[in-house]
Amino acid sequence: MTRKFDFLVIGSGIAGISFALKASRYGKVALLSKTVLDETNTSYAQGGIAAVTYEPDSFDKHIDDTLIAGDGHCDLAAVEKVIREAPGQIEELLQWGVDFDRTPKGKFDLHKEGGHSEFRILHHKDNTGFEIQQSLIRRLRSDPNITVFENHFAIEILTQHHLGEIVTQHTAGVECYGAYVLDQQTNHIHTFLSRVTLLATGGIGNVYATTTNPPVATGDGIAMVHRARGVIRDMEFVQFHPTALYQPGVRPNFLITEAIRGYGAVLRCRDGREFMHKYDERGSLAPRDIVARAIDNEMKTRGHDYVYLDVTHKDAEETKLHFPNIFKKCLELGIDITKDYIPVCPTQHYLCGGVVVDLNARTSIQRLYAAGECSCTGLHGANRLASNSLIEAIVYADAAVKDAVKQMDTIGYNEMIPAWNDEGTSLPEEMVLITQSFREVEQIMNSYVGIVRSNLRLKRAMSRLEIIFKETEDLFDRSVVSREICELRNVISVAYLIIKHALRRKESRGLHYTVDYPRRLSKSE
Ligand code: FAD
Ligand code: SIN
Repeated sequence: MTRKFDFLVIGSGIAGISFALKASRYGKVALLSKTVLDETNTSYAQGGIAAVTYEPDSFDKHIDDTLIAGDGHCDLAAVEKVIREAPGQIEELLQWGVDFDRTPKGKFDLHKEGGHSEFRILHHKDNTGFEIQQSLIRRLRSDPNITVFENHFAIEILTQHHLGEIVTQHTAGVECYGAYVLDQQTNHIHTFLSRVTLLATGGIGNVYATTTNPPVATGDGIAMVHRARGVIRDMEFVQFHPTALYQPGVRPNFLITEAIRGYGAVLRCRDGREFMHKYDERGSLAPRDIVARAIDNEMKTRGHDYVYLDVTHKDAEETKLHFPNIFKKCLELGIDITKDYIPVCPTQHYLCGGVVVDLNARTSIQRLYAAGECSCTGLHGANRLASNSLIEAIVYADAAVKDAVKQMDTIGYNEMIPAWNDEGTSLPEEMVLITQSFREVEQIMNSYVGIVRSNLRLKRAMSRLEIIFKETEDLFDRSVVSREICELRNVISVAYLIIKHALRRKESRGLHYTVDYPRRLSKSE
């Protein structure tokens, strides 16, 4: 079946829904979610959303903190844009019903996280993302111009390639006409035609064996743009959160928010000694890349699987008030955080790179916009400052709507796109082959493309990946399309891009650290 909408939105996190709520003022919107609306990275966000609200904070301070964390690789125009537009977007979230914690005097109760020089993180207890996601969903449900498609998986974005043209990286004027979408309940593949498409497909966590991201985070948007020959960059800058709860075999890894270190928690070795001041004068509140590498080093040197986070010296009632979900979760596991140290270890958490967009959220493919974690705006540079991603997503979703509506009248539907062709395919003989290959990719990435890299490890990862790539493409060509095989192809593409970009960078910068080039070059590329 072919469906037509003015706007096609792929993703139901903060980027996708905030775009949809604004775009619906100008036309009909289809919003896709590959599972249910609230299974998103957004729902899992804990710490909060960074924005300048009161003095002594200032735009200049937030800009400086972002640039310092980004390690000389940020795009200043993107940094200025996000930070200066942040207060306006916070206002919109409030109007949509998001409830941020306030002090008894009615001001925002601000938290602090690693790399921030001021208290500037607005939050809702320690589950800010859930509060944002649920508030946005409530607005979405009452918007008559938005049609929601849950359990609909976008397989490919549609371009001239689907009209039989050869599209390469050098083809000028590549356009996006919508997407082929698998309805997972009926197993039918529909053609969604759009005038404008927004990619808001979120993170890539499941490319790694351990991650804080939910299972939907398989980098689909980035992989689709890669196949469509769009421009992607900075994939080597994979952020590992320093303090995921140590729970072997459990996925996703439960996060212990960085805000707890802003509140005073201290990292300790297993023998109880504080170690972060050995690595950085900011101690446990240094930027994330530094803290994660320091923990990794302590764990490797001592042969330990985790370190401790200690918040026992703080007032117990206040700790429970600020971090009720972390308190509850840990208590269920027998850890009373007001009395016991919390075992933590670094875990894949965020991707700074992705689909390149300009200040209007335009990708290199015409009629295709991207916002949120799947995009690369240049805000984060080589290392994201904590709590800068929710705000980036909503600022760029807003930019995308504003730009798209200016062009809408000149864009039509491309009715020439043929229906999906699955002639000559059959059900894959063994689903276990797909599952097994997925596990192999995750293991390769954890083993060879983690916090500390080397040429040898990266090359080994690439040669292992090539075998899985060939086997998977062969299987894909013969198989009826399923979400599982599409996700496998996507994680392979994303893993390939991370390794390729990591091999290309002949220096250590931000989140990319390699023993072969431990120094930072004077100029970033
Ligand atoms: P998501 O919220 O991840 O949404 C992605 C959507 O895309 C989902 O609806 C999914 O179903 C859909 N999708 C994906 N592929 C397809 C497909 N092929 N077809 C159809 N639909 C598809 N950031 C902060 O700023 N502050 C924080 O405190 C913070 N804490 C975090 C804590 C955790 C545990 C995690 C995991 C992340 C945290 N982050 C935080 C990062 C932040 O949450 C994410 O970067 C942000 O929410 C991403 O939003 P998004 O809209 O881009 O994508
Ligand atoms: C956290 O709460 O520590 C996560 C914040 C973020 O990833 O921005």
